[in-house]
Amino acid sequence: GHGGGIVIAIDGPSGSGKSSTAKGVARARELRYLDTGAMYRAMTWWMLHHQVDVNDAAAVAEAASRPVITLGTDPDAPTVQVDGVDAAQAIRTQEVTTNVSAVSAVPAVRELLVTRQRQIIDEARDEAAGIVVEGRDITTVVAPDAPVKIFLTASAEMRAQRRSREVRSSDVAATQADLARRDQLDSSRAASPLTQTADATELDTTGLSLDEVIALVVKLADEAGART
Ligand code: DC
Repeated sequence: GHGGGIVIAIDGPSGSGKSSTAKGVARARELRYLDTGAMYRAMTWWMLHHQVDVNDAAAVAEAASRPVITLGTDPDAPTVQVDGVDAAQAIRTQEVTTNVSAVSAVPAVRELLVTRQRQIIDEARDEAAGIVVEGRDITTVVAPDAPVKIFLTASAEMRAQRRSREVRSSDVAATQADLARRDQLDSSRAASPLTQTADATELDTTGLSLDEVIALVVKLADEAGART
């Protein structure tokens, strides 16, 4: 079904503050929350642990339908399960981070996960006030008709600082280099690259606090809600 709940689509590069912002907005307006990056990470983790060569696109495409990836959409306790097993920690390792761009560039992987993401969005629109969805292709491919579309950005330095804090690394320069490598791969791939469209609101979070960013997105959501 297609219930009346709102969809807030947020795209942006790594470290732009997408996850914290999306969770905060979902909490503020009692919406569900979907981290699509977690799904690509879960797929990557499964491939790595089932001896699939992640750089062999044909092998990845063939195996893509085998893992059962389940996400919980409560912003206070987002869960990730792969084949019924909690994978929340496992998908955040450096090994997964290093290999996720290769797996997420495979069209068969994207088709499967986008279909699943749209199901989760439809369920949330039926059962809840709506959902905040974050990723790289939400405003362009997954939910192009969303009434609120945001492209989050931040300076490379700011993003590297944030990501270093997240992964508890003191080597900000190395983190910045790794982010640049992933951004380059995620933006230049043929299948649904990270792209900023004219109808998405750009929000540069560089000088802003998290609460300020959340308040700006909530304001846009409330305005969009008032229009419908
Ligand atoms: O947001 P993140 O860093 O957890 O995302 C992990 C990777 O997944 C990222 O490098 C690109 C990919 N990804 C994607 O291709 N499409 C999405 N909608 C979300 C993430």
